[in-house]
Amino acid sequence: VNVDESRPGLRVVVLGAGTMGSGIAQACAGAGHAVTMVDTGREALERGLAAIAGSLDRLVRKGTLSGDDATARRSRLATSTDLAAAVAGAEVVIEAVYEDMATKHDLWRRVDEHAPEAALRATNTSSLSVTEIAQASRAPQRVCGLHFFNPVAVLPLVEVVRGERTSRSTLDEAVAFAQGLGKTPIVCGDTPGFIVNRLLIPYVNDAVHALGEGVASAADIDTAMKLGANLPMGPLALADLIGLDVTLAVVETLHRETADPRFRPAPRLRQLVRAGKLGRKTGEGFHRYE
Ligand code: 3HC
Repeated sequence: VNVDESRPGLRVVVLGAGTMGSGIAQACAGAGHAVTMVDTGREALERGLAAIAGSLDRLVRKGTLSGDDATARRSRLATSTDLAAAVAGAEVVIEAVYEDMATKHDLWRRVDEHAPEAALRATNTSSLSVTEIAQASRAPQRVCGLHFFNPVAVLPLVEVVRGERTSRSTLDEAVAFAQGLGKTPIVCGDTPGFIVNRLLIPYVNDAVHALGEGVASAADIDTAMKLGANLPMGPLALADLIGLDVTLAVVETLHRETADPRFRPAPRLRQLVRAGKLGRKTGEGFHRYE
């Protein structure tokens, strides 16, 4: 994105400094917005900042980004553990916390207490209902989904999700905001998994079923899909990238919302999540990471 430094960007607050929150914050800073990343503890914020620094370094090493641009992006990023103060002057609030409806409701209620009514409110939920999340807000017409893909720095798509009560102008604003990030927005309805996760996650889950049935080893399943279907990575490596907890949450939502046995969560997926083996972010999932 070419940033016009003479024009101030928007004041954007990203709630959650995990894999997605930090990626979204990085994309927003890259588009010239002034970003505050909020989380409950300093360690989570430090980890988020380290992930952003790693991603920016990678872009600089590849020659995609100049060192000065990377420094400018870092300078547009602030962090805070004080949600009330952070959202007080926000023009856009993007929530990217873990997939728990009670947590999201609690967070959106607090945003409502302290953020301007006019602020655009977006959730990056990967599986929960945007309509249900919006019920916690006094301004549900200002709430929509902005669903990014991991790694955010690389993948161009954003699903803009229209909740039942999302207004037309909110949707238009969200589309323009995503375009301003250099992303390609696609508007979709508030159905379980939206478009990408509705199609991608059952495939990943099926690969875990195949592993459990002894079809092949994890390495061979991944190699098969990479070399036989020309995909950038195999399904189990992809689950490790997404996070096994997030993958399981999406499958469970698809299963719960549709009662369709096709979406039955693979037992091995649940087992690994219970063991805290969540993929790349914990160093082990279907594969091990340095
Ligand atoms: N930050 C910046 N750049 C990055 C990066 C990051 N975090 N990760 C990768 N890159 C860049 C690399 O520098 C490289 O750049 P180049 O093309 O200029 O050389 C390019 O991306 C490719 O990376 P690598 O060469 O290291 O490795 P790969 O070619 O294997 O690509 C990948 C890695 C981009 C992760 C690729 O394997 C891929 O696209 N995998 C599929 C990812 C996918 O499907 N994601 C969607 C998950 S679903 C989701 O997120 C929704 C949620 O709700 C569950």
